[in-house]
Amino acid sequence: MNAFNQYLNENKQRFLDELLELLKIPSISADPAYANEVHKMAQATAEHMRQLGLDAVELIPTEGHPIVYGEKMVDPKAPTVLVYGHYDVQPADPLALWDNPPFEPVVKKTPIHPEGAIFARGACDDKGQFFMHFKAYETMLHNGGVPCNVKFMIEGEEEVGSVHLEHFCKENKKKLACDVVLISDTSIIDNKTPSLTVGLRGLCYMEVEVTGPNRDLHSGVYGGAVANPINVLCDMIASLHDKKRRITVEGFYDDVDKVSSKERAMMNEAPFNEKDYMKDLHVSGLLGEKGYTTLERTGIRPTLDVNGIWGGYTGEGAKTVLPSKAFAKISMRLVPNQKSKKIEKLFQKHFESIAPEYVKVKVKALHGGEAAVVPTTSVEYKAAEKAMEASFGKKPLPQRGGGSIPIVAMFEEVLHAHSVLMGFGLDSDDIHSPNEHYGLFNYYKGIETIPYFYQYYADMKKK
Ligand code: BES
Ligand code: MN
Ligand code: MN
Repeated sequence: MNAFNQYLNENKQRFLDELLELLKIPSISADPAYANEVHKMAQATAEHMRQLGLDAVELIPTEGHPIVYGEKMVDPKAPTVLVYGHYDVQPADPLALWDNPPFEPVVKKTPIHPEGAIFARGACDDKGQFFMHFKAYETMLHNGGVPCNVKFMIEGEEEVGSVHLEHFCKENKKKLACDVVLISDTSIIDNKTPSLTVGLRGLCYMEVEVTGPNRDLHSGVYGGAVANPINVLCDMIASLHDKKRRITVEGFYDDVDKVSSKERAMMNEAPFNEKDYMKDLHVSGLLGEKGYTTLERTGIRPTLDVNGIWGGYTGEGAKTVLPSKAFAKISMRLVPNQKSKKIEKLFQKHFESIAPEYVKVKVKALHGGEAAVVPTTSVEYKAAEKAMEASFGKKPLPQRGGGSIPIVAMFEEVLHAHSVLMGFGLDSDDIHSPNEHYGLFNYYKGIETIPYFYQYYADMKKK
């Protein structure tokens, strides 16, 4: 056993206990009612950075939640790694569907995680994952030192679009100058099949409002004669996909990058069992764009989903009402070369154009971000590949992730740095859902893998 593994073994319980403490803080960035808790979490994160002996540790205020920053420059000739992660979490609701309260973490065994998994909001996304980097750093520190300069930047607004972080990066290019950005906020294929994420989708998030009559009406007195905005909104939403499940917004596919048949074939070689996938979700069929496999639909194709829809009466029992207004939140996942600003305009124009004369519509954009692709030929990718091979005993497969981390494209554009997307979660870890969890195997495997990355990266950069 090497010194790193021995240190990890000796400190396993403490590494877990420290994470459990962080998981007790409900740092929900979307809900202003939790602003104090978000701040508390930022302070706890900074405190851990200080304990690691980092320099220049600070809570950088933004117009939203603070960015937590700390660094250690060891050698001007060594490469600099910028570790990015987020300490904010998604709202925990619906609370009733949790088996334990979301901010009272428990460790339980599951069929996929026989060694146990930590159940709590943020366990996998992203507290458990960014904290691996702190503990990996500690491990290196106590066993010969860290071979790279390190800058840690852990933000508190990833789950709400990283708007203020974007501004901060543009204004602080020097401070954030680095050779590579290292991020653990994605998944591997399964615990026996390591993978590195080589693509993320972009996002364009809209909200629409449909107004019919000037006030709520009796649905018996007026119904059948006056258009019901909820009915109309449903018709409009239904028309956003055609029979082949293609998105009908004019121009939507114009800029979509073509993926070669070779790359598609490679993608579909990744281990994936559609029957198990459906069984896990308790569905007896799947639905998506015709002509593409499930892995392609979530990896390389853009999509449109309604995230929420409301209006009229939703309380207990029945109320006969023809409401005045209906609303929906609609998001589109974008692929490389589609631009979220352009899609925003196309969607707005399309949605207004399909509104019948008996309603008025308002369309507003909530947030957006660009897709990202990571080259597999770079030094940083090779170092990450070698690191995972060292800890898993198997070379990781390159895999496109379906989710979005908008700041990754920005790092590329503003800092001219490639990101290494070395996440250790599983797609089945229920991030953003009730009973989010993170495998102990995954947590410790991450802490074991990260030091290899630093070592290989420093070595490869020397040559
Ligand atoms: N960590 C996720 C993104 C992710 C998850 C990427 C799994 C790949 C695999 C991140 O925290 C997230 O949830 N991002 C949001 C976007 C944001 C702008 C709200 C998303 O993808 O919905
Ligand atoms: Mn995340
Ligand atoms: Mn998330």
